[in-house]
Amino acid sequence: MLKKDDNWWRQAAIYQIYPRSFKDSNGDGLGDIKGITEGAKYLKSLSLDAVWLSPFYPSELADGGYDVADYRNVDPKLGTLKDFDEMLKALHAEGIRVFVDIVPNHSSDQHEWFKAALASKPGSKERARYIFRDGRGKNGELPPNDFVSHFAPSAWTRTKNPDGSDGQWYFHMFAPEQPDFNWDNREVQLDFLKTLKFWSDRGVDGFRIDVAHALKKDFKKFDKSYTKIDSMNVKPDGKDILFDRDDVHEIYKEWRKLFNQYNPPRVAVAEAYVPAQRRVLYAKPDELGQAFNFDLLGTFFSAKDYKRIVTENIDLAAQSGSSSTWVLNNHDVVRTVTKFGLPKGTDYNQWLLSDGKSIKVDLDLGVKRARAAAMFIMSLPGATYIYQGEELGLFEVADLKPEDMQDPNWKRNVVLQPQKVFFKKQGKTITGLAEIHLEKGRDGCRVPLPWTSTGSSFGFGAGKAHLPQPREFGALSMQSQSKIKGSTLDIYRTALKLRKKLQTTEEFEWIKTGDPQVLHLSRKNGWHCITNFDGADFTLPKGEILHSSSPLKGRKLPKNTTVWLKA
Ligand code: NOJ
Repeated sequence: MLKKDDNWWRQAAIYQIYPRSFKDSNGDGLGDIKGITEGAKYLKSLSLDAVWLSPFYPSELADGGYDVADYRNVDPKLGTLKDFDEMLKALHAEGIRVFVDIVPNHSSDQHEWFKAALASKPGSKERARYIFRDGRGKNGELPPNDFVSHFAPSAWTRTKNPDGSDGQWYFHMFAPEQPDFNWDNREVQLDFLKTLKFWSDRGVDGFRIDVAHALKKDFKKFDKSYTKIDSMNVKPDGKDILFDRDDVHEIYKEWRKLFNQYNPPRVAVAEAYVPAQRRVLYAKPDELGQAFNFDLLGTFFSAKDYKRIVTENIDLAAQSGSSSTWVLNNHDVVRTVTKFGLPKGTDYNQWLLSDGKSIKVDLDLGVKRARAAAMFIMSLPGATYIYQGEELGLFEVADLKPEDMQDPNWKRNVVLQPQKVFFKKQGKTITGLAEIHLEKGRDGCRVPLPWTSTGSSFGFGAGKAHLPQPREFGALSMQSQSKIKGSTLDIYRTALKLRKKLQTTEEFEWIKTGDPQVLHLSRKNGWHCITNFDGADFTLPKGEILHSSSPLKGRKLPKNTTVWLKA
């Protein structure tokens, strides 16, 4: 059962479920809502406070579900609202709260509003919910400006009029199947309040807000700007045309009023890729309350960088009245086991494009470092996020075949290049155009979870998994690892159980170690965490050894290892 506590989220352990790859209850190859209900006991065994579900709404899956066709429903491929209610009840019964993902910047092009917009005239109220503009050039054949989308190339797509002639253009920061909403439109604002109320009334405990910093655009500048603007490039002054604008905060202030009508108040966490100083604005108590701190996500396993990031984020979170969050993995980035098993400075996209062949990854080293990093962040004040499969030490699947890949990053970042091919039969060389992909995309971290060591899709479901699992996943399954003391799953389970008991206060201090490669932090209740990143064996101070990420050498802490002590 859920304990009554309005501040439960401040120090929570939250597990991200990517529903299509968690557990498939009906054998169609896609994970589903009933699969999450079936997994409730497993989730309980991880001593979690909450789970966050990536989108499970009706979707054509142009962007893994982040293209939502109906915000107040469940994708029929994944189940029904009744299944959702049962899942929520089952997780609550295990003491686990539930966050859902809200995707407010854009809908799917299959959303009824977008379909109505396409069927309506320029200047209509249906079109005013999105961002439609006339094209430039004699016949409107050029996009309204040169904005670049995240999933390349242009952020504009031209529409067809009902009579088949070329029409206006619409703006999409991501794929063309993800048209951006016009957040200056009150109808859009009210509809999202309705969605938040819909899920809150069903008993959902919190929300993860997708690209929270992108909703408001400066249309005065937007409509005058014909220079190339890369939507990845944000000016940190609150006045950018597309991102992190000061006026976006008005939206979240209004949302907070709704959240506070519930008991306990609903909570929310912003996904805002902005500098740390700006990020905490989203986390203020009168706004979303928390924001993802992604600084460690893009950082190699390094004592110096970890120390700097932790110090800065804890200070900033305190200033904002929130607690910090710690994230090493999610559905958008290369899994830590792989990252940390490759040399520092590796270009992960290039490595992925080589199907993981350009550099041999040292997975043993990667697993050791990933566990050490996980135990390090778990000991910090603030909320810890764990991405499904991280607790199994899953690696990035780098060699997925082109025909299996789903990510728009892979599909859309393509150029045509002349290539010479020798045709044996004709006995001659012919030059043709070959498709060259510039991005491998994010499918490699979204491969379905292995539950059992053998069997169809390693217990994920009775059918063929929607992304193929490599053979090594059998030995990494929950079933295989549950039996092994010292397995990654065992290390995570013990750490999370201990953390639940020890994570009582919100302060910490650094203790000098005399070795720049060794970080030592302590909490008021006598909980100490020491991580040896890359130093010589480090002699542990006095204290009872509670847990370690890898075996110790007696009272010596080898490199790539974290230990927890009780003083
Ligand atoms: C961030 C999500 O995490 C990512 O998966 C998605 O592609 C974009 N937002 C667009 O919704």
